[in-house]
Amino acid sequence: MIIAQSVHSPAMFRIGELTAVELATQFGTPLYVYDAAVIRRQIANVKRAFARLPLRPFYAMKANANLSILRLIRGEGFGCDAVSPGEIYLAKRAGFESNDIWFTCSNVSDDDLRAIADPGIVINVNSMSEIDRVIALDLPNRIALRVNPDVGAGHHHDVVTAGGGVKFGIDLAELPSARMVIEDSGRRIVGLHAHIGSGIDHIGPLIESARRLLEAAAEFDHLRWINFGGGISVPYRPGEAPFPIDEYGAELTRVAEKLLRARDLHAIIEPGRYIVAQSGTLLARVTAMRVSAGHKWLGVDTGFNHLVRPSKYGAYHHITNCDPQSDRSEDVVVAGNLCESGDVFTRDSEGNVLTRHMERTNVGDLLAFHDAGAYGFSMASHYNARLLPPEILVDGNEARVIRERQELQDLVRGME
Ligand code: LLP
Repeated sequence: MIIAQSVHSPAMFRIGELTAVELATQFGTPLYVYDAAVIRRQIANVKRAFARLPLRPFYAMKANANLSILRLIRGEGFGCDAVSPGEIYLAKRAGFESNDIWFTCSNVSDDDLRAIADPGIVINVNSMSEIDRVIALDLPNRIALRVNPDVGAGHHHDVVTAGGGVKFGIDLAELPSARMVIEDSGRRIVGLHAHIGSGIDHIGPLIESARRLLEAAAEFDHLRWINFGGGISVPYRPGEAPFPIDEYGAELTRVAEKLLRARDLHAIIEPGRYIVAQSGTLLARVTAMRVSAGHKWLGVDTGFNHLVRPSKYGAYHHITNCDPQSDRSEDVVVAGNLCESGDVFTRDSEGNVLTRHMERTNVGDLLAFHDAGAYGFSMASHYNARLLPPEILVDGNEARVIRERQELQDLVRGME
């Protein structure tokens, strides 16, 4: 079984059938470009890997909530995991039906809850306090419980979302009280959910969490879904093994199929990163070069305002020169255009500046920051009054603007 991995050939890097150089020339930089074929490939991987389970695949839209991308994913039959009224608004604009949306709470306000009152949308509550408020507000929504299964994992401690010391989920020991409070109010619990972290590169913790959820399910009579969350990693470094999605599908099937079928339940998984990360590239132009502290520094026309993962988590994004003019390579530091020393794309998780070995690069060259489709644009900001970059969707040999480049006027919206 071949599950394609990112292949970053430095010479004339292409996205779909178009070269990065021609895309940058046509649309300018900085620029997010997504390859629709990669999104479809990842979706096909999910469908194949879990084909034997009664599965309802969802997409965690926090990874990338561009309307065109949401529409593409909805068209492939996915439902949607949303975490704010804004995400629900976007999901509906993209055509998701209420019945295909779960709202996963994280310290939501009464206003948030009122904004999503809808009998179709499942509210996935995160705490006893949210349960009390859903009841007090008399919301018509169906209710699921986000469980903390006491096993967590992730590429960085900030993205581990279960186990001790995290803000998420109802502890296993608290489930009987949660059930009692909800049932006493005359409501039914239609789902159990666990999402244990993000960027998980092996199946062990995911399966352990699934086992604990399935065990907990025995005490709940009216379930329709067990939601095993997202969290599946993708390879970011050249040569890194892809996540064993088929093994995950086979093992989850082995652990869950019997119970799901016996009780006529559906499994949900809600990956975000796995669906979109590899489809996306941030293209940026080298604007400056300097030598300092023994390093060659390349400065680019983007920064952590557009791709925060390296400076926030020390996350690795492979960087290549899209059209190198020399066969030689060199060690460089790649830094952004913001006024902060942490605005460096080549860092570790302690914030140390690292060098990266890459093709020899000059001012004016075009760089590609790979695998930036998840938590790239969706975490972008206007810091330093820099504009958000446009987004382009490439499908084969066609490129379509799916978010326009901003104008200075966008910076004052609501202030005058
Ligand atoms: N479901 C829930 C309830 C979540 O909170 C998340 C992600 C997902 C699903 C999707 O997880 P994924 O399949 O994408 O790993 N900004 C971080 C990632 C934060 C993920 C937060 N929750 C990063 O750039 O690595």
